[in-house]
Amino acid sequence: MTPKDVKVSKAKGRPMLTWVGKKPLARVRAYPAQAIERFDATAGQALPLQEAGWSDWPKDLPKGGLLYHGDNKDVLAHLLANGFRGKVKLIYIDPPFDSGADYVRKVQLRGVKGTVKIDGEDYTLGEQVQYSDIWANDNYLQFMYERLLILKELLAEDGSVFLHCDERQGHRIRCILDEVFGAEHFKNEVVWYYSNKYGANSQTFDVFHNSIYWYGKSSKVQFNPVRVPVKEKRLQPVRQWNKELNKNEWLRDESGNYLYQESSTKDLGDVWEVPVINPMALERTDYPTQKPEALLRWVVGCASAPGDLVLDCFVGSGTTAVVAQQLGRRWIGCDINKGAIQTTAKRIQELMQSQAVDAAPSPQGDLIGTADPSPKPSQLSFATYRVNDYDLQIQHNEAVELACQHLGVTRTRTDSFFEGTQGGRLVKIVPFNHPLTPLDLEAVRNELKARPTEERDVMVVCLGWQHDARAWVETYNRNRPVNKLHVVELRTDRKLGGIIKHEPLTAQVSAKRTGKGANAQLVVEVQDVVSPTIMQRLNLEQGVFRAQITDWRAVVDCILIDTQYDGQVFNVALADVPERKQDLVNGRYELPAPPAGSTVAVKIIDMLGEELVVNLTV
Ligand SMILES: C[S@@+](CC[C@H](N)C(=O)[O-])C[C@H]1O[C@@H](n2cnc3c(N)ncnc32)[C@H](O)[C@@H]1O
Repeated sequence: MTPKDVKVSKAKGRPMLTWVGKKPLARVRAYPAQAIERFDATAGQALPLQEAGWSDWPKDLPKGGLLYHGDNKDVLAHLLANGFRGKVKLIYIDPPFDSGADYVRKVQLRGVKGTVKIDGEDYTLGEQVQYSDIWANDNYLQFMYERLLILKELLAEDGSVFLHCDERQGHRIRCILDEVFGAEHFKNEVVWYYSNKYGANSQTFDVFHNSIYWYGKSSKVQFNPVRVPVKEKRLQPVRQWNKELNKNEWLRDESGNYLYQESSTKDLGDVWEVPVINPMALERTDYPTQKPEALLRWVVGCASAPGDLVLDCFVGSGTTAVVAQQLGRRWIGCDINKGAIQTTAKRIQELMQSQAVDAAPSPQGDLIGTADPSPKPSQLSFATYRVNDYDLQIQHNEAVELACQHLGVTRTRTDSFFEGTQGGRLVKIVPFNHPLTPLDLEAVRNELKARPTEERDVMVVCLGWQHDARAWVETYNRNRPVNKLHVVELRTDRKLGGIIKHEPLTAQVSAKRTGKGANAQLVVEVQDVVSPTIMQRLNLEQGVFRAQITDWRAVVDCILIDTQYDGQVFNVALADVPERKQDLVNGRYELPAPPAGSTVAVKIIDMLGEELVVNLTV
């Protein structure tokens, strides 16, 4: 399939904010998506599911949740070109906030302590960058503008968008929302108030809230009022829904006096007090900036109904998809970061497995008073797709961290271009998936031009050189007193080189048949898994002492098995995803035997998110 261009309508609302480089978006290029994984928790049984909503589902797509790995501009364009225009009832997005930070996840080994002993001391794997929230100039605003323009096209006429942001860009985002959706379609500014966080600022007031802007596509959006418990029962005026006027009315007696009744609940207002996720909470995934499920339950509960389609294209750890799944909605999630896709897939697999076993609706707890208090799930299966290839991103982040540790670079997380400094020089690390080219060097030159007072030399770190890059550097450095470029080629540098040899994950796995006929079983055993990247991390940190991992299961996050792998789409027949961090994968699995000659594929994902698929013929 070749990419095709899809039309995006112009924003017509007012007022309009302007910024350097503001460009409209009349068309977007839609690329095809490649299916990479399928999960079905029903195991072929007919379980009670929500029936609403599937009649207008694009016929080429499986009826289930959809999880996309890719840049959301590409993914949203793909959805637009493939039957989802005007179909989404609710969009919740929690994009980067332009916070000027890299977001990291603490990585631990599995097991009771999550650490490894080196010379009697406990060491952890440290941190892994998940995504960067550092933007140059006004790029952030253009980024958000483009995504919002496409999101509007996907929204149903009675659909809603909830945009989560904070005080840094909130006021500008609100102007963009006015422009894209129309100021007349603004519904609420919800304040998420969290009081259980430690304050940090001494010069200004500490911040204990985020804002969530709610806009409708038109003036007729769905709204299900949410009732919340009150501490003590109290008298409240009685309301009733007036269908003709499409609004609630206060009831009065014959003399015109308001009627009161005692109530233990009240309507939720626009300040939502929900604690941030505490370190011990079961829902915690360690994905940075993960939002509480309780917060999303109110968003999803108030502006959609069971069977409706919910979209989050900055899905992160998957909170929106998880809550949509719990509340009987259909859902689409997307993220550019592979770690986010893996975390979301794990959470959804676990949830669908438990929903399939219980075949019972999830408890609604804090959703008293919404339309359907106890919906069945809309689906118990989902598919993961890739639009363009972002697999390299996680390896790049990992390689940059390793290179910085190895070269003694002090990281400057607030600099959007240079990775840090070393011995008085600025350091630029060129992605290791290609040799250094004149284009990379021109990017460095342009950056230095934009910083006229910069008087330091620059160390450019690369894996290897393209031949014309050498001549470029020589010409550039000639007669230049400052800002000289010094290139470190890791592949050959005797002193500094030798670290960036990516050795992939390896494993010893066996699969055999036992029993005959209807009793035939497939037994899969993982005997060993070695992650050179994890070992390298531990050993880099600890110098002379070598780390020893006594149980291979400590390095493994989860194991998935496809018993009839077709070489393209991984159909998950078994998912071993331990719920708690201290739990280990099992390592030995018994499944119904597939037909003779089938390819059994075993996918192993380590604690840094690296994947290995071992294929065995049985
Ligand atoms: C604040 S986090 C979302 C957290 C999420 N609400 C949760 O509860 O876990 C923002 C997410 O946006 C993703 N992201 C950033 N730029 C993106 C892009 N261009 N396309 C898709 N995802 C992107 C990041 O990888 C990150 O996971």
